[in-house]
Amino acid sequence: LNARAQAAGKKYFGTEISTTVMADSSANNIAKNSQDFGQVTCENEMKFDATEPSRGVFSYTNADKIVAQAQASGQIMRCHALVWHSQVPTWLKNGGFDNATMISIMKNHIANVVGHYKGKCYAWDVVNEALNEDGSYRTTDSVWYSAIGPAYIPIAFAAAAAADPAAKLYYNDYNIEKSGSKATGVQNLVKLVKSYGAPIHGVGMQAHLTTGQVGAASQYVSNMQAYVNLGVEVAYTELDIQTPSSSPNFAQQATDFATMVSACKQVSACVGITTWGFTDKYTWISNSYPLIWDTSLQKKAAYNAILNAWSGT
Ligand code: G3I
Repeated sequence: LNARAQAAGKKYFGTEISTTVMADSSANNIAKNSQDFGQVTCENEMKFDATEPSRGVFSYTNADKIVAQAQASGQIMRCHALVWHSQVPTWLKNGGFDNATMISIMKNHIANVVGHYKGKCYAWDVVNEALNEDGSYRTTDSVWYSAIGPAYIPIAFAAAAAADPAAKLYYNDYNIEKSGSKATGVQNLVKLVKSYGAPIHGVGMQAHLTTGQVGAASQYVSNMQAYVNLGVEVAYTELDIQTPSSSPNFAQQATDFATMVSACKQVSACVGITTWGFTDKYTWISNSYPLIWDTSLQKKAAYNAILNAWSGT
């Protein structure tokens, strides 16, 4: 999958993995194969609750294991995620910190985590899921917005740039793959970051999709172009395409994976695709069979469909 993506001019085809996958040697042998995966994302191991479980106390053991394996396997890292409303530790969620303290906590977290992985991350998801479905900012359900307001977003990007000037800095979200209110919100967010003088280099479209609802590639191409016109690159960062366990349709799923590959292939600033796991044995959505290898680690129809989509015209 990765070899074909690179032959089509992309930087990578990659996957999310976890220490759970690494502990399953049969699954991990698939994950380590750089012919299929040239890039790796940690599922949970780099998130705030994992890396700073107590204030000022940083923990990198699990993420380091994944980074070490990726490096040994010739795979690059997309690093995920620095500033998100979810998976924040209790000390932060319930801390009741004021504006200045929250800015300092955020900057300190970014300096430490990005500093620890300096030179090892092709890209960082700096801010994740800051928007509501209507394109407005998440407010009360985000500890960051609640204490800091929208300025937390450019402040986070500036802090990440200071800690690793070579990393591509991304905004990452879901339901922003097609045009609409939320995609427009992302465009406004990119402009906001730039208006503060902070760098932003990419928009990550998570692409948690549903079999049969994907439709034509053209709508993804035009939406990507709207981001690219703002001067950023784009990537599909968490692709999976669920199909109900009651009536799975793996042929349609294969077609839908091929559609997403075709869309990325058509946009030169689409640098690559990451799937959110690779086997239905390990997926965040139970009973949804959204990935490329089945629960017995056998390749599904989607595998060849993706290969052919990278190779086709
Ligand atoms: O670590 C605790 C463990 O100590 C505890 O015993 C156990 C009991 O439930 O929970 C463990 O935490 C779980 C964590 O994954 C690590 O396994 C959480 O309950 C569980 O909610 C968490 O789910 C993750 C989810 O993000 C959280 O929002 C999924 O694994 C992960 O795949 C998912 O990934 C997100 C991306 O980061 C952002 N985009 C959406 C995507 C899918 O939701």
